Amino acid sequence: LVIEGSFFSASKSTVVNYKHHSLISIDQNGMIDRVINEHQEDYDQVRKRADHAGRLIELQPDEYLLPGFIDLHVHAPQWPQAGLALDRPLNEWLNHYTFPLEARYQDSQFAQHVYEQLVPELLANGTTTALYFGTIHNSANLILAKAAVKFGQRAFIGKVAMDNPEQTPSYYRDESSQAALSQTDEFIQKMESLQQQTGGHITPVITPRFVPSCTDETLNGLGQIARKYDLPIQSHCSESNWEHQYVIDRFGQHDAQVLDKFGLLTQRSVMAHGTQLDDTDIDLFKQRGSAVAHCPISNAYFGNGVLPVNKLIVNHNKIGLGSDISGGYSPSLYENSRQAVQASRMLEDGTDTTLPASKRGASNRRISMKTSFYMATVGGADSLNIMAGKIEPGYVADLQIVQDKNADFAAEPADVLDRLMYQTSPATIKKVFVGGQLVTEK
Ligand code: GUN
Ligand code: FE
Repeated sequence: LVIEGSFFSASKSTVVNYKHHSLISIDQNGMIDRVINEHQEDYDQVRKRADHAGRLIELQPDEYLLPGFIDLHVHAPQWPQAGLALDRPLNEWLNHYTFPLEARYQDSQFAQHVYEQLVPELLANGTTTALYFGTIHNSANLILAKAAVKFGQRAFIGKVAMDNPEQTPSYYRDESSQAALSQTDEFIQKMESLQQQTGGHITPVITPRFVPSCTDETLNGLGQIARKYDLPIQSHCSESNWEHQYVIDRFGQHDAQVLDKFGLLTQRSVMAHGTQLDDTDIDLFKQRGSAVAHCPISNAYFGNGVLPVNKLIVNHNKIGLGSDISGGYSPSLYENSRQAVQASRMLEDGTDTTLPASKRGASNRRISMKTSFYMATVGGADSLNIMAGKIEPGYVADLQIVQDKNADFAAEPADVLDRLMYQTSPATIKKVFVGGQLVTEK
């Protein structure tokens, strides 16, 4: 396959490169093997060959190619309640909405109904890779994996472990620590055989829901399983006042230190939220090579704080974006990119001089839309240690073709990228590819 058109791809957290009118050549394995610019000798030859073979996709003048987006934090089972009960505090929301909903996934038909809607919805929003929380039920988690394979999404999926009777309801918890661990092990085996049968892009993930919901035995056992199989790990970390304080009361330590103690803070870890992380925690994340999934929409509702995202960027921590469906209501990383910029602006230099400086925000807190674009692409890929998120040889061909609605009004390329990030919706995402395969078309 060869795609002809102009594209954007981030190289650093503040630098997005624009390439005008190029050929992006994709090999049999769904990898980008060449990017050819108009002045290269064999441009016409490569173009002609692809065209004759019926394998040339030409972008319209108002269309641009972008890397597919990588959503680092999605609760797949919560899709039916996206937008509901966002005014409840986190622990109430969990107990009155989320746990009752997630318990329904012991019904495989319900699981299939939801998951076969969610996966195409995310693809239609340009999300080519998702890091999913499932539920405690392996049958439903495998249905999610099959939906990802069916619709062609790159998916990292975790069987949720939650066995602490003090923080989970009797109708929705792992029966014991042993059950949580053996079912995690079983899920890993089943994912491996499904992957081999189908050739799908699916990976199992070690998933303690968050520290409060797990016993020490389970946290410890999951750390061991992660090490044994060398697998990615995901959880929530220092999300809200209540949750952060709960962990301090139980362990006398912050989430980051507790996760680390149990072997759950590795270079394959992606931890959601982090609004309450202090500088020591941020440095521990950096030392371990662990990533933060920044969920700016969700944080506004449940986080009791704003993640100082630029602090992590400047510190070279690994960081990407997460929708946190349904703590966040939107399945779109475009919308989350906008909220990430807006939230960062509100941390910067408050003007109320009657407040102490520490309450007024600080300088150097804002991020630009280019940094959001970086997090949605390169930052997400680095967090998952995958060769994705860039349009360069050696990277997977996970791509989206988007239309500039205001192309009538000429703008510099750097401004066009901002416009696309602010204006794109599923209606203007024309085609989406994962591993060179067309998975969504308008
Ligand atoms: N903490 C534990 N579980 C959850 C969840 O499902 N969503 C969010 N936002 N936080 C959590
Ligand atoms: Fe979450």
